[in-house]
Amino acid sequence: MQHKTIIEPFRIKSVEPIEMSTEDQRLEYLKEAHNNLFLIESRKVIIDLLTDSGTSAMSANQWAGIMRGDESYAGARSWERMRDEIRDLTGYQYVIPTHQGRAGESILYTLLGGEGKVFISNTHFDTTRANIEFGGATAIDCLTDEGKQPALEHPFKGNMDIKQLEKEILNSGAENIGAIILTVTNNSGGGQPVSMQNAKEVRAICDKYNLLFVLDCCRIAENSYFIEQREEGYKGKDYREIAQEMFGLADGGVMSAKKDALVNMGGFIALKDKKIADACTNTLIIKEGFVTYGGLSGRDMEALAIGLQEVFDKDYLKYRITSTVYLGDRLHKMGIPVMRPIGGHAVYIDAKAMYPHIPVDEFPGQALACDLYVKGGIRACEIGSVMFGKKDTDGKLIPAAMELVRLAIPRRVYTQSHVDYVIETFEEILKEKDQAKGVKITYEPKFLRHFTAHFERLN
Ligand code: F0G
Repeated sequence: MQHKTIIEPFRIKSVEPIEMSTEDQRLEYLKEAHNNLFLIESRKVIIDLLTDSGTSAMSANQWAGIMRGDESYAGARSWERMRDEIRDLTGYQYVIPTHQGRAGESILYTLLGGEGKVFISNTHFDTTRANIEFGGATAIDCLTDEGKQPALEHPFKGNMDIKQLEKEILNSGAENIGAIILTVTNNSGGGQPVSMQNAKEVRAICDKYNLLFVLDCCRIAENSYFIEQREEGYKGKDYREIAQEMFGLADGGVMSAKKDALVNMGGFIALKDKKIADACTNTLIIKEGFVTYGGLSGRDMEALAIGLQEVFDKDYLKYRITSTVYLGDRLHKMGIPVMRPIGGHAVYIDAKAMYPHIPVDEFPGQALACDLYVKGGIRACEIGSVMFGKKDTDGKLIPAAMELVRLAIPRRVYTQSHVDYVIETFEEILKEKDQAKGVKITYEPKFLRHFTAHFERLN
């Protein structure tokens, strides 16, 4: 018999209580947190969809690995396991452990970047962009037009616009390019996948101009699932082999292991080139730790090595993507404008389309995130002009390309009934959507303002 329901392919051995709250309590909590969901204590959240990063539930096997963790300063067995697993997956000889993704970005892009350098990506994630810009270099996004239209159905909306990429290279001068970065899946662009064909085309451009091709590979297992499902020639192919093929096209990768390595902390840089790796290693020792642990403890490295294997499990990836699609498709059917098709790790709501009466400089995404919290205790994340907005010389907002709210799904954490609760909350919000009010920023820091900014709800 072929069942309709794709069940969570695991049983639950250990549970974590959720504290319930009332709408009145949450109104108060939100006010205390200046309408910024990053400033709310997690115990005041019922369903936490702020991020899929570092929020995975580990398996019994990973917990067993935690006990095996070798905490030796140099040459730990757990380091050997992690290094060998990454070498086998990526095919890259040089592995540099870091405590999370952005530490790797800081090391690699400080080395390759600096004043006058240019990096081009399908879309730089916010920490990637911040690390590049902090070093004085420029970050340019080159996403295809399809990727910029939230409602459009297209199998690979994370693809790099290859024509635009070449134009930007010529414009900046190939000698000034720090690296070409392909983010798979494209987190800031809706968790949309990148096709193998696109990665091949990026490789060809990098060969033509002699440029370094780096994968931001934190969700490469999820990307591989989409390639198997959607790209010609990949049906039935092993997900891990698909990832290996993509690694084979690039020169290196930076991974936040907090996503597809199914751990709560961890990351790495992996490279083909010894010279670049040696230079990264120098910074690593100053900033993160010795070469055989970076910023990680032995137990972290052990769990990471196991997680990198588990994530490619057929049943896991099928459950993972179909449960995200379950949420997205139901919201879509209800009339909530969601980014189509549904991405791998998250559902992205088009807040501009949902709250068309709220102008972009009153941040419709932030307004929707606040409403989700008050109505259901759901914590989501604005990915719009709060996160990516810039200012012109008069201080006027240059809005982001899209005003999205991301419901990121932690891996192996919530069940279908949790997801049904989220859907019910949206039903309520939909009824009152025309009365929703925007927000105003009352405080903001210089970099990555979404983490700590304060907002006031407008009347
Ligand atoms: N690259 C991508 C595509 C990411 O999504 C993230 C993190 C990073 C790099 C940085 O990794 O957090 O380990 O330093 N994304 C998280 C998120 C924060 O919520 O999407 P990190």
